[in-house]
Amino acid sequence: MTDDLTLSNPERNPATPDGRSGEDQPRWRQDFPIDLSQYDYISRRDFIKFLILVSGAFTAGQFFLVLQSLSRSAEQLPTLEVADIDDIPIGGTYVFEYPPGSPSRILVRLSDDRFVAYEQQCTHLLCPVIPEPENNVIHCPCHEGYFDLESGRPIAGPPNRPLARVVLEIRDGKIFATDIERRTV
Ligand code: FES
Repeated sequence: MTDDLTLSNPERNPATPDGRSGEDQPRWRQDFPIDLSQYDYISRRDFIKFLILVSGAFTAGQFFLVLQSLSRSAEQLPTLEVADIDDIPIGGTYVFEYPPGSPSRILVRLSDDRFVAYEQQCTHLLCPVIPEPENNVIHCPCHEGYFDLESGRPIAGPPNRPLARVVLEIRDGKIFATDIERRTV
């Protein structure tokens, strides 16, 4: 083993980038020699380390998201008083937040004793949707998407997933939200 680190030492640096001997290399390269074989080796090893770290972080991230969504779906939402029945006429709508601080939900009175409520974001690209009780649909004006008012399922346009439905309970003349039902079909 030698201590001579210059390019002129063939044992230390048998290969130079341009194939010329160490003495013919520019002065700066002689002053700062690089062992190309070691350099390649370290780069490959570092690259493999990097790949392992990135794929490990990616896998951990996926696990975290799955655990988070499992804990969210298992989480019981609080019951919230939304409105008095008498405050909403048949065909009338009411926007509220459930749970408080969430994106808007929209309540629609279908008849004397039937109410529906959905997330107000379109399942296509999240535009706010507008109920049209007179046509029994919910309309998304962004790309002319339509949902069935009674089920929240898409019936026309680009959306292909139903609107998230707010589970309602009616008691003592009041409407309560008790949960959110996210559906894929
Ligand atoms: S965002 Fe609603 S149809 Fe595109």
